[in-house]
Amino acid sequence: MMLKIKELTVSDMNLLQDCAALEAISICEPWSFSSFVSEAKRKEGLILAAIDEKEKLFGFLTATCIPETADLTNIAVMPQHRRKGIAGMLISALKNHVGEGSIFLEVRESNTPAIAFYQKHGFLQVGIRKRFYHLPEEDALLMKWEEFKSC
Ligand SMILES: CC(C)(COP(=O)(O)OP(=O)(O)OC[C@H]1O[C@@H](n2cnc3c(N)ncnc32)[C@H](O)[C@@H]1OP(=O)(O)O)[C@@H](O)C(=O)NCCC(=O)NCCS
Repeated sequence: MMLKIKELTVSDMNLLQDCAALEAISICEPWSFSSFVSEAKRKEGLILAAIDEKEKLFGFLTATCIPETADLTNIAVMPQHRRKGIAGMLISALKNHVGEGSIFLEVRESNTPAIAFYQKHGFLQVGIRKRFYHLPEEDALLMKWEEFKSC
């Protein structure tokens, strides 16, 4: 299986729909299809999709990118294709995109697969956001990655 990473724009309506469908089965408070379209239009919005040669979606991430900093807002991989390194490909592409900057994210404190994934990719916990999530209510761990800068 050869996957590539594609940055989605509003001309990728089918893939944006597939992202919303994957989001709906992966996340407790999912973004709607129209949120994905708005994100694709927004100057700071970034949507990276892992797709095969037939443009079938395997996973995606969304992030808000301002100079030097990205906020990772969503990441999900098709359930039957997890633990194959696909989210790893996506996060590597985001790291390349931010260059020497930092990446921040919030994650539900009960989401142990995601926390293990972020730790494997060099994210450190830098704070807690109390009752950040609803449905169900839960605290968020605030995590940060930054490129190691040698002196
Ligand atoms: C979190 C998620 C995106 C990871 O995607 P993935 O493609 O399976 O991740 P990778 O295959 O790149 O995983 C790399 C590493 O992350 C860690 N990891 C991933 N899933 C894990 C799990 N279920 N349990 C423990 N560690 C896990 C492991 O260290 C893994 O390396 P290994 O397979 O060599 O042990 C995926 O589980 C998912 O879509 N979850 C639902 C959506 C979600 O919770 N998103 C995060 C919201 S903040």
